[in-house]
Amino acid sequence: MTLPKHCLRMDQLSKAQIETLIDQALSFIDRDAWQIRKNTRCAGRSVGLVFDEASTRTRCSFHMAAHALGAHTIDVPQQTSSAQKGESLIDTLCNLAAMWVDALVVRSADTQWVNQLDALDPRPCVINAGNGADEHPTQALLDALTLVDQLGAVDRLKVVMVGDIKHARTAHSQIKCLQRLGLRDLVLAAPPSLLPDELPEAAAHTTSLAEALVDADVIMTFRMQQERMAEATRQGHLQDAAAYKLTAAHLAMAKPQVRLMHPGPVNWGVELCHSLKGHPASLILKQVGYGVAMRMAILCQSLRGL
Ligand code: NCD
Repeated sequence: MTLPKHCLRMDQLSKAQIETLIDQALSFIDRDAWQIRKNTRCAGRSVGLVFDEASTRTRCSFHMAAHALGAHTIDVPQQTSSAQKGESLIDTLCNLAAMWVDALVVRSADTQWVNQLDALDPRPCVINAGNGADEHPTQALLDALTLVDQLGAVDRLKVVMVGDIKHARTAHSQIKCLQRLGLRDLVLAAPPSLLPDELPEAAAHTTSLAEALVDADVIMTFRMQQERMAEATRQGHLQDAAAYKLTAAHLAMAKPQVRLMHPGPVNWGVELCHSLKGHPASLILKQVGYGVAMRMAILCQSLRGL
């Protein structure tokens, strides 16, 4: 199964390609020891990380993944790069490409950079680690890996997404990824102001959290993306979202074996109540570990044949 060299948008990947990535990621996990299996498949390759938005999980797990494959990384935080002198993101990427970097992992508040990559020469593999409020495909893929490994197939599950689905790029990619994997029962539970402008086909939506949670297998929660909200609407969004803060009582409305997910960072006390920290239903820190394995699989596929 061949995969695209670049990982830019979820709709580039077929079901079979997503499954190939999941299988490869699983081969990188020693489940008994809960450890990553290091190897040298990408020895000698270079991976540049260009982030102009804050990141802990995504940036660090790409470093971990590249090193676990024998590749080396070049961190280009925009706070200390020539971006400070006015260099554009695309010019920065062109310069790294001119240094023969093999892969670029890029996150930017700008949604459009994914459409401007023709300028890169030579053309490295490019992986989207978040473009504005648009997409975050590697997070969706690691969440799918988490679900498959923890719960088996995705298609029979009922998944409820709660919170700021409008501004969360993780949710936008996740909806496409799970539906591509055959998920039929997807419910978006949010105030109307925090639902996406274009509602996904074949997903239900409701303002009633209690109604949504009945029979849920998985609850996916999302941070209030305050940095993406207009000043004039922010307070209103926060007030609207207050009724969607999850508590242990909400988890009890779902199936007894319900699992709780969140891409992080969690704003405890905002989208999740403090008492859910360390809750047995939570997969939140497990997702982070799966993230290293999935990013190893993505780097392997992107760097193959170079
Ligand atoms: C997310 C992001 O940056 O989009 N975080 C992540 O990559 N794990 C979610 C968020 O910022 O809320």
